[in-house]
Amino acid sequence: MRETIKPHGGILINRLVEGELREHLLEQSKQLPQIIINTWAISDLALIGVGAFSPLAGFMSEADYNAVVETMKLADGTVWSIPITLGVEAPVADKLQLGGQAALVGEQDGVVYGIIDVQSIYQVDQKHEAVKIFKTTELAHPGVQKLFTKPPTYIGGPVQVLNSPKPEKFEDFYFDPAETRRIFSEKGWKTVVGFQTRNPVHRAHEYIQKSAMEIVDALFLNPLVGETKSDDISADVRMRSYLTLLENYYPKDRVFLGVFPAAMRYAGPREAIFHAIVRKNYGCTHFIVGRDHAGVGDYYGTYEAQQIFSNFTSEELGITPLFFEHSFFCTKCGNMASSKTCPHDASDHLHLSGTKVRALLRGGQCPPPQFTRPEVAQVLIDGMKEPEYQV
Ligand code: ADX
Repeated sequence: MRETIKPHGGILINRLVEGELREHLLEQSKQLPQIIINTWAISDLALIGVGAFSPLAGFMSEADYNAVVETMKLADGTVWSIPITLGVEAPVADKLQLGGQAALVGEQDGVVYGIIDVQSIYQVDQKHEAVKIFKTTELAHPGVQKLFTKPPTYIGGPVQVLNSPKPEKFEDFYFDPAETRRIFSEKGWKTVVGFQTRNPVHRAHEYIQKSAMEIVDALFLNPLVGETKSDDISADVRMRSYLTLLENYYPKDRVFLGVFPAAMRYAGPREAIFHAIVRKNYGCTHFIVGRDHAGVGDYYGTYEAQQIFSNFTSEELGITPLFFEHSFFCTKCGNMASSKTCPHDASDHLHLSGTKVRALLRGGQCPPPQFTRPEVAQVLIDGMKEPEYQV
């Protein structure tokens, strides 16, 4: 099989344990101290297990954590921008021994998801972490808010994954990096552009995806379906909207839809680097970064998530970022455009805020077709009628 782009750090990590060894470790885990993990940590663990976070083989040790926070690199110099950490309450940490192991047990279901080799136990200054990673300590920032709910004692060390969370829906769209790499290779795609999104695909998203598709073999539409903030549209509704859009407007032989079951951090620039590296692990050669990638509120500059890439050489990153300016429909041009391609005034540009679009959809109204494809709008309108949006 043709070799695809190398995973970050050179080797695709696999920490999944199966068969007899798994049975043995599950039995052995009964004797171990327990660390109770929430949905977010379960998702991080599963992504480490399948190699999506290669070269990480576990939760970060103190040395890696400090290096990542201060320099956006792991202790060995490999680029990495977001801490992947396991926080535990102090009484739990007291029961752990360096060089020992602990069972990682699901908070809601009591399932033993894995075992960690406890190599590092350390206290962190979460305010400092928030400033470095999110550029703010404001609780209004959803990433900061999450961070501050995590106990400030972190446990680091390699993991062995014994169980993975079962997708509730759209199971057919869950692929491990080893699978996407194989599929891209079998399809003969030499260049694949990854697209991160936590939103429905509106016309601006479609425009930048298709602009990128003009220069690569295929698009990997890779929506994030892990935890998002409560006013983001649910992954379930979004998945239905993606399927409708692909069915009607994308070439079937040049697009691959698979979910990214990670939590959203809303860390803007730092998360853009993280998103790119992870998509490289899934086998993408290119990655789209548009306006305010992974941003929230006005914590980050419109193009900060693009500018941050200049801190690294192309060898260090391995994956090629494709940057796009703010895109919109221009009534004078009569098509989608960006400030790079459109000479007209902002008043000629169709602009709708996320809040306005949500209000329209909630009221059962389609946004203009120049903003959202009518088929997509209909899925969103139907989705908005579901109980979780009736608040
Ligand atoms: S994100 O939090 O996942 O980045 P979103 O789903 O809105 O949010 O964006 C997905 C990608 O599309 C990001 O790279 C973002 O920068 C880009 N993007 C979103 N809207 C636009 C736009 N109007 N013009 C250019 N790029 C955009």
